[in-house]
Amino acid sequence: MNPLRAAYEEVHYPSYPRRASAPDRLAAVATLFGLTPPDLATARVLEIGCSDGGNIIPLALVAPDARFLGVDFAQQAVARGAQRIRELKLTNIELRALDVREFPADAGEFDYIIVHGVFSWVPTDIRAAILALIGRHLAAQGVAFVDYNAQPGSGLRFLFRDAMRFHGERFSGAQQRIDQARSLIKLIVEANPEGSLYRTAAEAVLARLLRTRDAVLFHDDLSEVNEPLYFHDFMASAAAHELQYLAEADLWEMNDAFLPAKTREHLTGLRTLVEREQYLDILRNRSFRQTLLCRAGVKIQRNLDGSTLERLWFSSDAESSPAEESATVRFLTRYASMTTSHQLTQTVIETLRRAHPGRRTAAEICQETQRGDAGADAQVQTEIARILLFGVTSGVVEIHAGPAPYVTEISERPIASPLARHQHERGETLANLDHRPTAIGSESARQVLPLLDGTRTVAEIAAQLGMPAASVLEDLRTLAALALLAPEKQGG
Ligand SMILES: C[S@@+](CC[C@H](N)C(=O)[O-])C[C@H]1O[C@@H](n2cnc3c(N)ncnc32)[C@H](O)[C@@H]1O
Repeated sequence: MNPLRAAYEEVHYPSYPRRASAPDRLAAVATLFGLTPPDLATARVLEIGCSDGGNIIPLALVAPDARFLGVDFAQQAVARGAQRIRELKLTNIELRALDVREFPADAGEFDYIIVHGVFSWVPTDIRAAILALIGRHLAAQGVAFVDYNAQPGSGLRFLFRDAMRFHGERFSGAQQRIDQARSLIKLIVEANPEGSLYRTAAEAVLARLLRTRDAVLFHDDLSEVNEPLYFHDFMASAAAHELQYLAEADLWEMNDAFLPAKTREHLTGLRTLVEREQYLDILRNRSFRQTLLCRAGVKIQRNLDGSTLERLWFSSDAESSPAEESATVRFLTRYASMTTSHQLTQTVIETLRRAHPGRRTAAEICQETQRGDAGADAQVQTEIARILLFGVTSGVVEIHAGPAPYVTEISERPIASPLARHQHERGETLANLDHRPTAIGSESARQVLPLLDGTRTVAEIAAQLGMPAASVLEDLRTLAALALLAPEKQGG
């Protein structure tokens, strides 16, 4: 057996929903750049290297009329995913145990192609096969998502990789190698004086290894193949298959506002977007990319003027806190932040924060922020469009190509995501309906979840669990805030 495949058969790599890879995001970014991406409701979606379906199954659940195909050469992982698909009675998705090099030429076109956690982890010939496959099978207005470790930022992370692999060769069995990899880095930390460059680098790697799950450490840090790529090299390979750069899946990653004005000036003379992005990677030591590709001939509206915003939905999970200066507010997400004293900007983001995890259209945001003000005119609409665009490129506002596939109101007979209930029964990490891995913090909400199959009223759930109805309602609000409650048609 191919040694890479043997490694994935030996240590299972559980997969999880990756928000940035969801067709909903891909279509939203494409729309923003003036493309007309295929309708999500009826799209054909392909995931390459889908493992046990942790990313693709939640996508299929919320789009019953779209069709999904996942391929991976690890048979056990595919079998595990296929079993879940059968148990959930999903009929719009298939997982196939297949080497990507044997992908059938007559499989037709796919509107969205996802390659998550794969590209850097396969040898050169497979990388070439993946790009060729995208070049052959991507629909005319389709979008492909490919993530990979990037250079130069992977340098530090990979500094100790050879040492861990050298050390690991003395041990047999995956678990021993994993444990020994952490031990070796600890030894390097202890061997070097505090504050030295080498020790500081080892400490950073050790901190990451201690947070990393064993299977990820095994396949990422100890794997035979883990190739970080320079963006310009990646794009040259993609261009050979008539694919062009659309954008990063997280748009704020393309923003250069974090740079001092003087540094930004140096970037203005660059000829191409690919060059500009490569310099940004070099300037900020970037280590990971989530690149969106489209067909070479497609016309891209690079100058974001907000003219397509009315086709999108918006949400924000930003935290807010008063900034030092008076009347200034700081909005903070996991990766990005925005500080503003502009009143209407604060109102718009606050409106989205209050609605979270709900999504709003630009028109709804106009209505909600101008409540009681009959004079909300075209000028305000333009201003709000500008604010939304600013929010999206700053990373505090997220864009979507469709309404939320979950509910935020509690219905008479509430239904939780059937997938989340299935995962909960098995003690697994839950996928929420917003395509994110999710944990339920409250013990009583965890008890309520299995009963949410749409057959019981709140009073009946309360009676069955011996809880007050008010407490069940509170738990339902907790589950709604985690985007775990499904509209009626998804239940069962
Ligand atoms: C690091 S795992 C990532 C799995 C999943 N996409 C995720 O991110 O959680 C890489 C996956 O690629 C699959 N893979 C590697 N080479 C492959 C090939 N030639 N054909 C099909 N699948 C392959 C492996 O079996 C494995 O499931």
